[in-house]
Amino acid sequence: MTRIFINYRRQDSEGYVGRLFDHLTQHFTPQDIFMDVDSIPPGADFVQTLEDAVAACDVFIAMVGPQWLTLVDEYGERRIDQWNDFVRIEISSALKQGKAIIPVLVGRSRMPNPSDLPEDIAAFARRNALELSQQHFSQDVKKLAQAIQDSSPAKRNHKPRPDSDTLSLKETAIKQVRLDLVGATESPLYQFRNENHFFPVIGEGNADANLFFLGESPGKNEAAAGRPFIGPSGEVLAEMLKSINLKREDVYVTNILLDRPPIKREPTPEEIAFYEPFVDRLIDIIQPAVIATLGRFAMQYILKRLDLPEKRQTISQLHGKLIKTQMHYGEVHIVPLYHPAVVLYSASQKATLQQDFEKLKIFI
Ligand code: URA
Repeated sequence: MTRIFINYRRQDSEGYVGRLFDHLTQHFTPQDIFMDVDSIPPGADFVQTLEDAVAACDVFIAMVGPQWLTLVDEYGERRIDQWNDFVRIEISSALKQGKAIIPVLVGRSRMPNPSDLPEDIAAFARRNALELSQQHFSQDVKKLAQAIQDSSPAKRNHKPRPDSDTLSLKETAIKQVRLDLVGATESPLYQFRNENHFFPVIGEGNADANLFFLGESPGKNEAAAGRPFIGPSGEVLAEMLKSINLKREDVYVTNILLDRPPIKREPTPEEIAFYEPFVDRLIDIIQPAVIATLGRFAMQYILKRLDLPEKRQTISQLHGKLIKTQMHYGEVHIVPLYHPAVVLYSASQKATLQQDFEKLKIFI
């Protein structure tokens, strides 16, 4: 599945957009092609709404017609120069979010020069464009459909299935992490584990998963069974995964603390630091394309660990965003999510969590 966002200026390319939509539906499902952000509720931050719409797409098509650059408003000012121009906001947002962007030239138009564009979208001018001509419309759309498929992150971010040797090497490496953890008597939580006959909770799931879920710390149920997320939060997690057609065994699930703390409290900096090398080893072995953090501690942990510019932002600012970064083995998206436990305390948060999980679909 590839979700396509078509950005266009009505007065400039509306005629072409309808025709393009019809042709694209021969290659993609109509529900996956978005053209207009039509319902912005009163009082909503429209920039945020447009950014969210762009965030939901895999490939961003920008239609550039003959008047794309030159159209002016009633005061004679170019639309593209205005801060509230939808076309500009969407392109700027697609650039910021690292989306695959394909400019599509119609009506014999040409790409603008960077110097003709506001700074936030100057980089758009450097994108290689495809042309849709009247004479060869269907052939040109076929080329575009191929380009969309090739540049879809769903394709780029998908790991090939590992062969059985690779998978078993990874499983063995994870077992070794577990053994090292079992023997980690210097852990600040070792004594509590031992006294209560608890198990360390290394994590579980697919040793070559594309999606790696990172929670906070095991609870009593988890420590008694040595498995993460098996209590009420685990039920919410399973429900969310099911809603995007995933099973627990398709993904890897773990926590930033790999032992249960004595009471229900925030993880301490000392505990977080102790388990960090173990969590690093798991990520190195599994090499996921996505690290989805559950809750603010896991989010802060990973943003700080990777020293990302977003590290000072809050979970209410970042939940559901795709933060692209580079790890030593390739491109990774960090996706901050609320902790599944929020749904247990506030039912209204379920819809938000559900929407944020939807963002993971492009990696499936
Ligand atoms: N269970 C876990 O394993 N982790 C959490 O963060 C919560 C419940």
